[in-house]
Amino acid sequence: METNVLLDKAFLPKNLGNSSVLLNNVFIKSATFEGMYKNGIPTEKLTAHHVAMAKGDAALTTVSYGAVSEYARTFKDQMYINDRSLEELKVLAQKVHEAGGKVSMQLTHCGYFTKNTQIKNPLAPSRVFNEYGFLSGIMFSKAMNRKDMDKVANQFADAAYRLKEIGFDAVEIHMGHGYLLSQFLSPYTNKRKDEYGGDIENRSRFPLEVLKKVINLLGKDFPVLVKLNLSDGFKKGFSLDDCKYVSKKLEAAGCTAIVLSGGFTSKTPFYLIRGDVPLAGMIKNGTSFAEKITLALFGPVIIKHYKFSSNFFLDQAKEIRKHVDIPLVYLGGVDSKKGINEILNSGFDFIAIARALIHDPDFLIKIKTNEIIKSGCTRCNKCVVEMERGGIRCVL
Ligand SMILES: Cc1cc2nc3c(=O)[nH]c(=O)nc-3n(C[C@H](O)[C@H](O)[C@H](O)COP(=O)(O)O)c2cc1C
Repeated sequence: METNVLLDKAFLPKNLGNSSVLLNNVFIKSATFEGMYKNGIPTEKLTAHHVAMAKGDAALTTVSYGAVSEYARTFKDQMYINDRSLEELKVLAQKVHEAGGKVSMQLTHCGYFTKNTQIKNPLAPSRVFNEYGFLSGIMFSKAMNRKDMDKVANQFADAAYRLKEIGFDAVEIHMGHGYLLSQFLSPYTNKRKDEYGGDIENRSRFPLEVLKKVINLLGKDFPVLVKLNLSDGFKKGFSLDDCKYVSKKLEAAGCTAIVLSGGFTSKTPFYLIRGDVPLAGMIKNGTSFAEKITLALFGPVIIKHYKFSSNFFLDQAKEIRKHVDIPLVYLGGVDSKKGINEILNSGFDFIAIARALIHDPDFLIKIKTNEIIKSGCTRCNKCVVEMERGGIRCVL
């Protein structure tokens, strides 16, 4: 189709999958850890951040990393779903609605990817070494038993239900990036010998149980998106073939849309964003002397660099597009009018954007009105450092 026609169409209202939630257009602000919390409670800054996204024409803005419990957090101060945070989130949802947008919450459990010292034995599919948190004294994970699994599945469902009750328009279950559900999906961390480990049918059993529990409790009309890896980004991790299998299962289970991404934060953290590794800032942010020195000495070796290119996940994502009919959200390196047209031409239903909107919340308005054709974000990735220094922002 002619490109301008496609782009114009992308700015027209569209339902979020089969739900009755009508979005203003196809653009979604992707979840980016905001770091705008105090003792686990969101601050007013978080509301202002998402209102700016809605005003900038992101039809659905995703609040990042709502931990499903106090013990599901990667960092101690991080937000989790409880009575107090829900009071603030209710205001956030109201204000996003007043600004003309819709709001979703990314629901996450860290699994063993944590340096939250409240947690002595972080949960995971298997007992594995905690390469991320060992310097904080959290050495190994605990392999989850049936009781743990039921508890965690209920926490996801309860959190989703409570968000629906306070006016959120959607939830996104995080099954990617090396968090708990992704740890189940990945053969790198799932070494179980029971029906929850082994082939992809078994490795996906628990994540699918979680999804079904959420959908059963919320009802079919409430949008439940899933963020899923195309691949973990290394050999012996979750593969594109695994993604094909899981996408079909998500479709059959009644998931509203799949947000495709990639990478495993404890092993390939920059696979999912690409561009510069802001090592100096990461060293400064280190929570202990040991962490700072380890990063300084081994950072360049252990943190792999991936070159940025526009739409860097498009080739992999197209493979999934061929394989399923469920609405797909393209994510990864969206930074220009040309790139957006390419994605629309490839049959994706929605487009999620992170850094171009952190750099300029009005990016979409400027693209729509032809004020710009490309984002000014340089992928310096210093926003990654800023999120732990009082709140995510662009340093440019
Ligand atoms: C500072 C920063 C924080 C992020 N935090 C999260 C997060 O909490 N949850 C998540 O799923 N992805 C997170 N991401 C990944 C983004 O959602 C997105 O997948 C990635 O930045 C690629 O999209 P982009 O090229 O449009 O920036 C983060 C990315 C950045 C740059």
